[in-house]
Amino acid sequence: MTVACILVAAGRGERLGGDRPKAFAELAGRPLVEYALRALARSRAHDVVAVVPAGLENDPALDGATRVVAGGATRQESVLLGLRALPGSVDVVLVHDAARCLAPPELFDAVVDAVAARHDAVVPGLAVVDTVKQVDDGGRVIATPDREALRAVQTPQGFRRSVLERAHAAAGPASAGSADPPASDDAGLVERLGLPVYVVPGHPDAFKITQPMDLLLAEAVLAAKAA
Ligand code: CTP
Ligand code: MG
Repeated sequence: MTVACILVAAGRGERLGGDRPKAFAELAGRPLVEYALRALARSRAHDVVAVVPAGLENDPALDGATRVVAGGATRQESVLLGLRALPGSVDVVLVHDAARCLAPPELFDAVVDAVAARHDAVVPGLAVVDTVKQVDDGGRVIATPDREALRAVQTPQGFRRSVLERAHAAAGPASAGSADPPASDDAGLVERLGLPVYVVPGHPDAFKITQPMDLLLAEAVLAAKAA
């Protein structure tokens, strides 16, 4: 089994703000993407294709990647560009958000193990702590799904390569103006094909850095590990 990871790092990070794209924003003096590459180096992924904003392909923070390619206008398009750059020998593909920079190596390996156990699409997920409401455009509540059955899903998500390629091919171009809304995760595209997706236990450190408060949390997590 040859495992590779597509590390998507090409977003702008509008919600975080700051003067660099989010994956190149600093956490305790190092860019987020470098933390993700260090975790991957300690996992069972052989190759890493990093997908970054055009113009940053040669940034030294990417030294741990096997290949670096420029990303697209949406996350879905960036994953597709990464898929096209995978070495031919790869049969299991992880897709990981550089923004989940503290996801530990054991989470990558747990997802790989689940794919190796013949689950063709695997996502890590955590129980949801808030009650979630589905609402209409006017803000009126339509439904309150049973919280016990909900999971907040993370990355790395893991796939048999052929399944992920089929899902992206069926989804179409995924440009910002295309008819289908771009998928917010890759498992969603596999679900659109009617194929099963399995959830394995997620990890609290795999939270996504989205807003400034998340950087404070990441600093605290790092400090607690160093103590
Ligand atoms: N991503 C990407 N290409 C895009 C958009 C997002 O590779 N066109 C990546 C981001 O770099 C990030 C991951 O997908 O690692 C999850 O996306 P998100 O947290 O939304 O990051 P950004 O799009 O950068 O942030 P924002 O939506 O606040 O602009
Ligand atoms: Mg985004």
